[in-house]
Amino acid sequence: MEARVEDTVLGDRYELVEKLGQGGMGTVHRGVDRRLRRTVAVKQLSSVLAHDPQSRARFRREAHAAAALNHPAVATIHDVGEEPHPDGPRPYLVMEYVQGATLAEVLQGGPLPVVDAINTACAVLDALRHSHECGIVHRDIKPSNIMLTGPDTVKVLDFGIAKAFTENATRITGSGAAIGTPAYLSPEQINGSEIDHRADLYAMGCLLHELLTGQPPFRGESPFSVMHQHLFAAPEPVSLLRPQIPPAVEAVILRALGKDPKERFADAGQMRAALVDALTQASMPTVQAPTPGPPATRSDARTALRDRFRFSLRPSADSALALLGCLLSLLCARGRLVDTAHFGWVAIAAGAVGLVTLPWSTRLSCAVSWGPVAEALAVNSELRRAYIGWHHSYVAIAALLALAAACCLISAARSRERGAGSLVAFWFTATASIWYFLDDLHKLFVFYLLLALVAVAAVSWEAVEFVRHRAGDRGRRRAFGPR
Ligand SMILES: Nc1ncnc2c1ncn2[C@@H]1O[C@H](COP(=O)(O)OP(=O)(O)OP(=O)(O)O)[C@@H](O)[C@H]1O
Ligand SMILES: [Mg+2]
Repeated sequence: MEARVEDTVLGDRYELVEKLGQGGMGTVHRGVDRRLRRTVAVKQLSSVLAHDPQSRARFRREAHAAAALNHPAVATIHDVGEEPHPDGPRPYLVMEYVQGATLAEVLQGGPLPVVDAINTACAVLDALRHSHECGIVHRDIKPSNIMLTGPDTVKVLDFGIAKAFTENATRITGSGAAIGTPAYLSPEQINGSEIDHRADLYAMGCLLHELLTGQPPFRGESPFSVMHQHLFAAPEPVSLLRPQIPPAVEAVILRALGKDPKERFADAGQMRAALVDALTQASMPTVQAPTPGPPATRSDARTALRDRFRFSLRPSADSALALLGCLLSLLCARGRLVDTAHFGWVAIAAGAVGLVTLPWSTRLSCAVSWGPVAEALAVNSELRRAYIGWHHSYVAIAALLALAAACCLISAARSRERGAGSLVAFWFTATASIWYFLDDLHKLFVFYLLLALVAVAAVSWEAVEFVRHRAGDRGRRRAFGPR
């Protein structure tokens, strides 16, 4: 019968209380140190990794080295030991118990506001600067190894562990499973070259990319595909995924992701300084001093909120586009541009809904307001002559326009920032396609149907994003405690 967790006491000292999680290298429990009467976290290595005596010896050596680290952003290592097991001794590591949420959990709620992401990255870089000065390269910087303990304060976990199990060995085990996630591996870790502190800076580039966009720079079906991209592919610029990211921040990420370590920053301090400069250039709130900052303040929450709803608070090209759509839609109704009874009411409703929703979402506002405008223009243009039966050249034109409209709609759904312009393009291509495809009897009916569907879709996109951000806030609140 398998022993219950509560009955397990390691080294006659560390009582396991509850399982906190499981990773690729072992299982982590919350425990109690009976001698010092304090809560600790205990990581037991998986029997697969513990099998090789040389790896176990290396693990002890790396744990001793990592235990020398003394920094507020590094989870302290208290002890290391081995527990007898029928399959052979199983090493365990006793470390500081950290309260909060891992960045992996926080990211489930979507990307972080730009300032929060950079502050968090700077806090991790502080920890790395200290460890690199002590000659320790982490080698496995990733969201699940970083816990958020306050709005901009972190604890980096698992120093030294990756080195113990990847030195002189490939990261792919016999079963084809990768040790750690390949999403953050530097090219030199993949091709087995000499590794130094710049491997951690590469991982920091990947981390910053994910904090800002919600996804790592390279993704793929298999670990091999991701590793191939680390070696040969250029990363997708973050500004394509989130246009409000300042160009200077994007430049920092691209430099950190240099394939050759020489292309990257010389050290963690230099990368941190470049991030602070990038924020200053973008006139955003500056990064805190290297030491952990004070507890969460209301202004942090306001900064996050402002970042998320910046379209509503600042005039922008998108809000001007949405406003123009609303005004034109109302004008279309008044001008009786389409001589059908319902159209005027639909255009008024679309313009009014567009105006009401404009402060919340320019994307939603454009989705409803530009439809009647595009339709009125189609009615009053040469397009009205477009449909002359099922001639194949007209069907081909209509199909191409429909394809372009679908692409615009997908682009709008994927990006809150680029959404407004894509929706205007969608309406013009979609109405043109309808006018090529359909006769007069069906055109207007299909337009109304499309307008209703696009409005529902736009509300759903915003609702999904709202829920994702709420989930992210919950994750952050779990990490920071109540504000
Ligand atoms: N010192 C700690 N204090 C509190 N919770 C911890 C601590 N260390 C780990 N955890 C929790 O245990 C979970 C599992 O950690 P673990 O390191 O085993 O997994 P991982 O980081 O996903 O994978 P890997 O084995 O590659 O590091 C973490 O996600 C975290 O929630
Ligand atoms: Mg870990």
